[in-house]
Amino acid sequence: MCGIVAYSGKKECSKLIIDGLKKLEYRGYDSAGISLEKDNEIITLKAVGRVENLEKLVKKEEIQSFCAIGHTRWATHGKPCEINSHPHNDCTDTISIVHNGIIENYAPLKAELERKGHIFKSQTDSEVVAHLIEENLKTQDFTHAFCQTIKQVRGAYAIAALYAKEPGKIMAAKNQSPLVLGVAKDGVFLASDVPAFLAHTNKAIFLEDGDIVQIEISTYKIFNTDLKAQPRKVNEVNWDFTTAQKGGYKHFMLKEIYEQPRSAQDTLRTLKGSFEQVFGLTKKEAKKIKGVYLVACGTAYHASLCAKYMLEDFAQIPVEVETASEFKYRKIAFCKDWLFIAVSQSGETADTIAAIKNAKEAGLKVMSVCNVVGSTITRLSDITLYTHCGPEISVASTKAFTSQLVVLYSFALNLALALGRLTQTEFDNLYSSLEKLPELMKEVLSQDSKIKELAKEVFTKKDFIFLGRNSSYPIALEGALKLKEISYLHAEGFAAGEIKHGPIAVIEEGTPVLALVPQGVLEEKMLSNCQEVKARGAQVIMIRDSKEKAKAIHIPFEKEFLFPILSVIALQFFAYYIAVLKGRDVDRPRNLAKSVTVE
Ligand code: F6R
Repeated sequence: MCGIVAYSGKKECSKLIIDGLKKLEYRGYDSAGISLEKDNEIITLKAVGRVENLEKLVKKEEIQSFCAIGHTRWATHGKPCEINSHPHNDCTDTISIVHNGIIENYAPLKAELERKGHIFKSQTDSEVVAHLIEENLKTQDFTHAFCQTIKQVRGAYAIAALYAKEPGKIMAAKNQSPLVLGVAKDGVFLASDVPAFLAHTNKAIFLEDGDIVQIEISTYKIFNTDLKAQPRKVNEVNWDFTTAQKGGYKHFMLKEIYEQPRSAQDTLRTLKGSFEQVFGLTKKEAKKIKGVYLVACGTAYHASLCAKYMLEDFAQIPVEVETASEFKYRKIAFCKDWLFIAVSQSGETADTIAAIKNAKEAGLKVMSVCNVVGSTITRLSDITLYTHCGPEISVASTKAFTSQLVVLYSFALNLALALGRLTQTEFDNLYSSLEKLPELMKEVLSQDSKIKELAKEVFTKKDFIFLGRNSSYPIALEGALKLKEISYLHAEGFAAGEIKHGPIAVIEEGTPVLALVPQGVLEEKMLSNCQEVKARGAQVIMIRDSKEKAKAIHIPFEKEFLFPILSVIALQFFAYYIAVLKGRDVDRPRNLAKSVTVE
């Protein structure tokens, strides 16, 4: 997730772009850059770190420009450094582009362009766009060359491009990454999100996938890659700045819950390729892995617990899962041929870092699943698999959790195939279900108002119990954690079979019990557990993937192994609405920090 701002019009625009980028820093702040058009030339300035570093450079250079593109980066391909910062140029520095998203087929495109003599400067997937435009310009004008380029790239993108020889013109394209046009009196803006131009205009056009935009000074045209006009409505946005930053949602947490289909999709996209390319291990190395340690904290620990079921079930290798704070201070009889996997959204959690250091000292290979490129954990790891969520702002983790599961599930299935524990046909069958996740997640999101109503029924209660079995047990723990951390209520998750061994004593008349009841061999057992607590007065709310139960929260059924990733979204909504009803500070709950950098 990066931020793009572009402008072409009658106003001097270096400040407009810098101000716009500052408003988009919530989308990433590893580095920032700007390309300004002046006298048939493009001047590009970049700075590592926050936009204010770029601002100082821009002020020093005092370049007067009326057409420019800017970018604030959240690193995905290539570490955060000046060379990998956007904008990227072609070989002759006459083309400049900014990109948000992932170009899936950049590797073959790059190889082909290199064969034709193009020299690449960065490690990014994005640079390929500038070189492709350059190549296509050999036979046609900017508009046609840009459209041809968009036909050649695959993936998710919002792209804006300048060409020095056609001054005042910006070409842009959108597919699966956001891009909004801001129509002001004296010029036209393009941005990843409305806050970037809200100070200048509230007239916004939300572009659709497949749209190409051509801006020339104060005019714009929207068409498709075959230059067929696409009529789009101009909306009047009546948001204040803070609401706009949250995309119109009341809280970042709600926005991030809704972002999950996109972050799952972006993450899945990066998991395509050979086993070695994606997971950084040869099949020979994989065959030597005799077991896996999964170590993490909080929500990431719950993702790890869930992954244990997948790794043991599909790859049939033993897995130990432990919270990092315990792992660190225990004498461990390390097995040297086990793989150590650390899971962390921030990559800066002190307990997880300490546990990694222990594992490294013991000579273990360290793999991490992380959301922040260049963070401490990625630097300590031998291999890093990234979740592609963009910055997670709400303290309560939501989209990072489901993306961690996407990565770990993909690893489990691919490892199972590499070890010969799944046949290619079995693998294909399971993997095609995993790839349906983004669409299935949207179905869970459509339960929003139903879950809100359920929350209204119980938000005055004091104690909440979450029950699950097998891979839904970690989801019960996660549901309880979400509820406690943002609503400050007492909530506990249990393995449903365990409640009769003690915890059932806390059930009294009206205690809400959220029960995760997927189809399959344990469905009957879960239903019996529900009866047990009901008989003691509990108010049972079931989360089910079988259709017939009207009162239950319904989760779409694809394959049993997807139930945890889908059902957790329902519990995120549940926690969110209870916290809202209780008037809590949802995005910044008391006593908590987003990243816990002390042990
Ligand atoms: C809960 C939450 C925390 C984090 C934990 C680990 O919503 O966000 O429990 O999951 O502090 O943080 P990371 O994943 O950054 O290592």
